Amino acid sequence: MSNDGVNVGRRRFLVAATSVVGAAGAVGAAVPFVGSWFPSAKAKAAGAPVKVNIGKIGPGQQIVAEWRGQPVFIVRRTEEILANLKKVESEVADPESAASVQPVYVDRKLRSIRPEILVLVGLCTHLGCSPSFRPELAPADLGSNWVGGYFCPCHGSKYDLAGRVYKAQPAPLNLPVPPHSYESNDVIIVGVDQEKA
Ligand code: FES
Repeated sequence: MSNDGVNVGRRRFLVAATSVVGAAGAVGAAVPFVGSWFPSAKAKAAGAPVKVNIGKIGPGQQIVAEWRGQPVFIVRRTEEILANLKKVESEVADPESAASVQPVYVDRKLRSIRPEILVLVGLCTHLGCSPSFRPELAPADLGSNWVGGYFCPCHGSKYDLAGRVYKAQPAPLNLPVPPHSYESNDVIIVGVDQEKA
């Protein structure tokens, strides 16, 4: 038939496309990583947005994604955590994030779009170490007043569970909130701004 060449070409394309899907599936199966997925190294270097499935983050839990080579902390906050943020307001250095970095569409105190979902760039604003997630109440090493937050292992800066730095710490600013948006209830896109309502 006169169009054999076209068909062969199309078949080759389909085989190639199927192979790519197969390879991606194999990687996904081998690395059971918290339900998030990443673009290629080349795309990451270019700062491509990253989609993260947040549906399986349990109450009070955190997952860590990666965007532009940086850790991104994503926490599902409970009512108790949100209530504790109010209690520490007088103890944090910049409670309304006046001097800190976040998109205009996040609440300045909760530092999020949805109150229960916190998204932060996980790099200390002192010298860039990655703070540890310490959600527990009153652990021995952080003291009886600790209501959950982040502790930087490098020089001891402490942040609350909105990423707000406590007063008199080496770190000068709250942890940054990256641009992000909701593709659906369970999927956020880090690196793409939320559109105005
Ligand atoms: S880098 Fe975090 S306290 Fe210094």
